[in-house]
Amino acid sequence: MEKDQKQPYVVSSKSRVAVAINAASKTGEWIKSKVGDHRQLNIKTSSQDLVTEVDKGAEQMIRKLVQTYCPGDEFLGEESAGIGAEASANAVDAVKDAEYVWIVDPIDGTTNFVHGFPYFCVSIAVAHKGEVIVGVIYDPTHDELFVAEKGKGAYVHGNLMKSADHATLNESLVATGFPPSTSVELKTKALTDILPKVRGVRNVGSAALHLAYVAAGRIDAYWEIGLNAWDLAAGALLVAESGGTVTDVANNPYDITVRNIVASNGHIHNELIQQLHNSGLNA
Ligand code: IPD
Ligand code: CA
Ligand code: CA
Repeated sequence: MEKDQKQPYVVSSKSRVAVAINAASKTGEWIKSKVGDHRQLNIKTSSQDLVTEVDKGAEQMIRKLVQTYCPGDEFLGEESAGIGAEASANAVDAVKDAEYVWIVDPIDGTTNFVHGFPYFCVSIAVAHKGEVIVGVIYDPTHDELFVAEKGKGAYVHGNLMKSADHATLNESLVATGFPPSTSVELKTKALTDILPKVRGVRNVGSAALHLAYVAAGRIDAYWEIGLNAWDLAAGALLVAESGGTVTDVANNPYDITVRNIVASNGHIHNELIQQLHNSGLNA
């Protein structure tokens, strides 16, 4: 059959996961090669909120790959979405009903990247009419590739992941994060109350890796207040597909507009939500 020269080549929708894996691994390797070698360090909302030319270059690399393979798809990337909570929420609103939208955090854990602390990753999700159907997270330092497709399970390097089995908070290892835009009071409120009730609390400085680690059963739960769609979309699917539970702090099911996340192995979800509510986090 003659090929129509005017039609762009478009891979089948089933291959979006392949494009996401390719983009995350290629970009991740490039980011790794730039550790200790970034040239521009700019401040976004505060000195705790950083961006480098590597973040921007990584987003460009991913955008170009998406445009090549899936030219009709929408693209929501952190470095082109506008700065601040309101701009982020508006950017999500603009694409949430799109047929297909790629939701991309080119480097999740930029502060770690800048300091050479080896926990950062590329996070790529694809949503179909608002529902996340592909989630890929690549950690180039540890060469860990986390992949989930809606209804097909979640995998780390091809091995099926299952969230942990711990049934109570007191046998659980949990994580939280401290986003620059959230007040110190909100960030620490629940932390001081929960510390004596769990085995330990961790913060590796990457929302996406925390979610991947819940999916992998390495931690039992993770909560954080004041995040954006690109921090969460891929990881939320990994958790759901590994048998875990993902909601907002009010216990509503996760969707791409959620900013206050609670993700867990499922067994401790209600206990954790109750604990967060007791500490005044409920919306
Ligand atoms: C940040 C990381 C961090 C979280 C911040 C995020 P960035 O993302 O996920 O763990 O606490 O809220 O903004 O800025 O490195 O992409
Ligand atoms: Ca991020
Ligand atoms: Ca980022």
